[in-house]
Amino acid sequence: MQRRPEPELMSDQAQVVAYAQADFRAGDQVLIEQLVPLLANRGSKLKIVDLGCGPGNITLRLAEQWSDAEVIGIDGSAAMLSIARKRAEAQGRLTRFLEASIQQLITTPLPVALASADVIVSNSVLHHLHDPQQFWRLVCLLGSPGTVVLHRDLRRPESEQQLNALQQRYLPEAPICLIDDYRASLRAAFTVDEVQSQLQLLGLEQLVVQEEDDRYLSVMGVL
Ligand SMILES: C[S@@+](CC[C@H](N)C(=O)[O-])C[C@H]1O[C@@H](n2cnc3c(N)ncnc32)[C@H](O)[C@@H]1O
Repeated sequence: MQRRPEPELMSDQAQVVAYAQADFRAGDQVLIEQLVPLLANRGSKLKIVDLGCGPGNITLRLAEQWSDAEVIGIDGSAAMLSIARKRAEAQGRLTRFLEASIQQLITTPLPVALASADVIVSNSVLHHLHDPQQFWRLVCLLGSPGTVVLHRDLRRPESEQQLNALQQRYLPEAPICLIDDYRASLRAAFTVDEVQSQLQLLGLEQLVVQEEDDRYLSVMGVL
């Protein structure tokens, strides 16, 4: 199936509310469990950056799991961050959220707070990028040799039939805007081969790209 990009930022209020109310806990937990062994010998005073953090689902799970870490969520959508900040406050977390697009961050001097991240994660973000190299350039700017990276995202199905089957299996009933978003995300997603090519362009071949179950891919390793 040909890739069809979708809008980058999620700023429409109905879309943001539907996303924030959806239950993604099972997938979020997979990311946390993948990260645990990668950080086993890294100490607890970590700086963890969550790129494209949305309403803070993963960011707050990271802050809970690594309670001594400095966790920073970044997103270009003010509507998403407004929910993330309210959730952090309700949970009594000092998690920081920064409103900035990936494009802004790669074209202006990085805020000092973001420099030298120990860990960079993202979930369901890469497929939003019209130019995915911008995402990987930011990963290189935020990290340094030794930084742990873990990115999970949908991968693009081969056909409309496969896409229909995935939607029926994983999102049979939901608000229509969430179903539309899910379908658009699958069409916008990358394949494992495409992500490997993106990494090669920046000399990041040491990162391992692998298929996960019938709809995800992950990119993990050390810069
Ligand atoms: C599908 S949501 C994922 C949110 C969160 N990572 C999660 O797993 O729940 C994608 C998020 O990426 C953000 N995003 C997309 N393109 C972006 C860009 N170019 N710069 C900053 N944020 C971006 C969107 O605004 C949205 O909040």
